[in-house]
Order: sequence, then structure tokens, then C-alpha cells
Amino acid sequence: MAAKPNAYTPEPLLCFLICCCQTRTGFEWCGLSLWGPQPGGGRSMAALASSDPPCDTLEQRKHKGQNLYYQIYVRKMQELPPDVHRFCDPELSAPRRKELLHLLRSLEEGSSCQRLQILFSFSVPSPMVLELLCALREPLVSAGAGTGYWEFLLQSRGLDVVAFDQNNIFPPEMRYTEIMTAGPEILELFPDRALLLAWPDADESSKFSRDCLTYYRGKMIFHVGELLGETVSSNPWGQSSTRDFQLCLAEEFCCVKRLQLPNWPGQVDSFTVWKRKSPQLVLCDGAHFQYVDTRLEEAP
Ligand SMILES: C[S@@+](CC[C@H](N)C(=O)[O-])C[C@H]1O[C@@H](n2cnc3c(N)ncnc32)[C@H](O)[C@@H]1O
Repeated sequence: MAAKPNAYTPEPLLCFLICCCQTRTGFEWCGLSLWGPQPGGGRSMAALASSDPPCDTLEQRKHKGQNLYYQIYVRKMQELPPDVHRFCDPELSAPRRKELLHLLRSLEEGSSCQRLQILFSFSVPSPMVLELLCALREPLVSAGAGTGYWEFLLQSRGLDVVAFDQNNIFPPEMRYTEIMTAGPEILELFPDRALLLAWPDADESSKFSRDCLTYYRGKMIFHVGELLGETVSSNPWGQSSTRDFQLCLAEEFCCVKRLQLPNWPGQVDSFTVWKRKSPQLVLCDGAHFQYVDTRLEEAP
């Protein structure tokens, strides 16, 4: 089946990020200073309700390792209008849909979801998922880490995490942690780490996630984002990783755990844990099986 064009790719976000690739101070390119204080002072940028802690600087957003993004998410979802999920409902009037889309995606809108996604990460890390990752105590290699927000939170909780990215989208001033500049080939060096893949692909033409599978020799993958059938995008494979990648993932790995993530309107994100199947097929009563230990062992 040919992949359909994605009617709900985060296109403005991607265009914005691409512009960042083209100019060193890309994030000031469209008159926005996403991480610095706004001219004129006062509460600015992602700022938020007066009850939210300030988050103009990277240091403020780090918030001593606490999950500030989740805190902002919870408050913001309470504030958004109840019909916000209907931004793509054809039965809602076009002007209202436009208003809702503006609230979600406008980069001029101080705390639009999209702006927060650029400042922090595409998916919001939930406390439960962070706890699970810490309890599993698997050293991680994160591919396409972006700003490194998830990685920073995990490191702050004592987890051993290394991260890489091609690093031509998010400038160093926006990064929460050290992110090596590398491509998927580097994964050959980390067979002893679990692979974290959060929103690796921009669209179906991306080869990144699939290449990560080619080079990764380890046993466990954590996927963050949308998966087949769990999306409101017109692309049934979702907005985070390609069809090619998901087919290969399901062939070689078995999903042993799934937790729902907090969802910005228009996203259906989950955190899933995948374990590598034995490549050897075993015939059992006429049907072939591939062994995998489906238990997930949390460190005591
Ligand atoms: C959509 S962003 C997701 C960032 C982050 N993981 C998140 O969830 O917010 C995809 C990231 O993958 C990176 N990426 C894409 N292709 C890559 C490649 N071939 N090698 C390394 N990084 C790549 C991009 O630079 C970008 O930071």
C-alpha cells in the first residue's frame, strides 16, 4: 500500500525547523526569540499563566530537573477551549477551526502547543514513563534527540543516557544536554544500550528511523510517538515514524509494554517497549514462533 500524503504533518513546525537549518540564528529568523526574554520584559514566550514558573531561559526550563513541561501541559490543557480537539472536524465552522488551529500552532501565540514542542519536545514526558525508564535501569542511546529534553530529565534521575542528532535544527543554546553530532551509523557502537526513538521521522520520505534499525544491534527499543492506527493523521502510520520502520520493527521486535502519553490535541502519542525476537524460527504444533522473553524486569 502506498503511503498517503499526510494531511496532518506538523508542517508549519517542520518548515520552521528547516528555516533554522538555513540560518545560524534560525530561531530569530521569523522575529521570534524562543529562548530569550522578550523585548519589553515581563512574562513572555512560552509564558504562560502567572501560576507557571518562568521559562524564558534554558536554565529556567531545566527547572532543576523537574518535569516543567508536563506541569505546563496539564495547566494548558485545562485552559484550552473544550472544542479544541475539533480543529479538524469538518462539521465545525471553518472560522472556528481556524481559531483553534491558531491556538495550537501559531508560533506567534505565546504558549501555543507547537511553540512548546519546539522549546521542549514533540511528546510530553509523563511522570509514569520517566519512572518506568528509571526502574528498568537500561542504559540508553537516544537517536535524533532534538533538544535533548527527555534525555536531560532521565539523566537528572540518574539514568545513563547518551544522545546523538545531526544537530542542524536545534542550536546549542536550545539543548538541555550534550548531544553528539552523528548519524544512525553510530548505533553500531552501542549494542549494549537500549535505543530510544522519539519522533524520529519528519515524514514518509525520511530514512532515519529505518536506518537506525539497520545499525542498531541491541535488544530493546523504546518508541515515543504515534504508531499504526493510533493517529488522527490521514497517514495511518502516524506522524512520528515511517511505515517502513514500523513494519521492520514489528518483524524483528515484539511490543511488550505500552503506556499512553499526554497528548497535545491532534496527537495520539504512546510510549512502547519493544524486545528483539530470536531470529530462529521454531516449529510448534505446525506454527512457527520466534522466542522473546516478554517480561519486563524492573531493577529492584
Ligand atoms: C522530529 S525531531 C524529534 C526530536 C526529539 N526526539 C523529540 O521527540 O522532540 C527529529 C530529530 O531527528 C533528527 N534527525 C533526523 N534525521 C537524522 C539523521 N539522519 N541523523 C541524526 N539525526 C537525525 C533531527 O535533527 C531532529 O532533531
